[in-house]
Amino acid sequence: MSGSSTHQGDPGSDDTTAFPDQFFERVDESPDSQFYQFPRLVTHIDDATIAALTAFYAEFLPAGMRVLDLMSSWVSHLPDTAYRHVAGLGMNAEELAANPRLDERIVHDLNAEPRLPFAERSFDRAVVAVSIQYLTRPVEVFADLARVLEPGGRVAVAMSHRCFPTKAILAFRALPPQERVRVVGVYLHAAGYVDVDFVDRSPPQADPLWIVTGTHSGD
Ligand SMILES: C[S@@+](CC[C@H](N)C(=O)[O-])C[C@H]1O[C@@H](n2cnc3c(N)ncnc32)[C@H](O)[C@@H]1O
Repeated sequence: MSGSSTHQGDPGSDDTTAFPDQFFERVDESPDSQFYQFPRLVTHIDDATIAALTAFYAEFLPAGMRVLDLMSSWVSHLPDTAYRHVAGLGMNAEELAANPRLDERIVHDLNAEPRLPFAERSFDRAVVAVSIQYLTRPVEVFADLARVLEPGGRVAVAMSHRCFPTKAILAFRALPPQERVRVVGVYLHAAGYVDVDFVDRSPPQADPLWIVTGTHSGD
């Protein structure tokens, strides 16, 4: 799980979607609105890893696209590229207000309501950066994300190794990295995405960067 820009194929294609008991349990099951009520204007990966994520986005997010940054905060790590529209959905209004790349800011708890507050076919691309471990209903979220993506639209889920331990689901605290990557592949397959793929963009001697992508087939 290390090295620069290694392509490692489809994770999760041969798994079942029956998640074990307690898979999505968290130490802190209080409403997420409490945990995120105060802004955290910090970064969650180090500078080299942010640069690697931005370089990946420069390939994944062509200019002129409508981009949804799910589980967004005050930084979206986007390249210096002109997009038609960038929407950010997260838990804290102050964090989103401080994000200069967002044209639209939505406070919305995906664990309380996995349906996204956007119209059908609103976006061409969606990204989830270093946050997937906090979703307790990920297959529902990704299934509804397909509704708000254009057919052929793509999603990228970027992961690293830090987390708020009390808010991460048990699976992400217990499983090793390659299994966490496979779990995200299972989420995307279960939600109907195709061309599910994995790349390792970890820079040397920095926080790792593992990215799973999928495409909304239009079915
Ligand atoms: C570790 S931060 C990452 C923020 C940003 N994506 C980044 O790359 O720096 C986790 C983010 O997940 C979001 N989040 C956590 N639980 C959420 C939930 N239930 N619904 C929507 N967003 C959530 C929070 O708003 C928070 O900004």
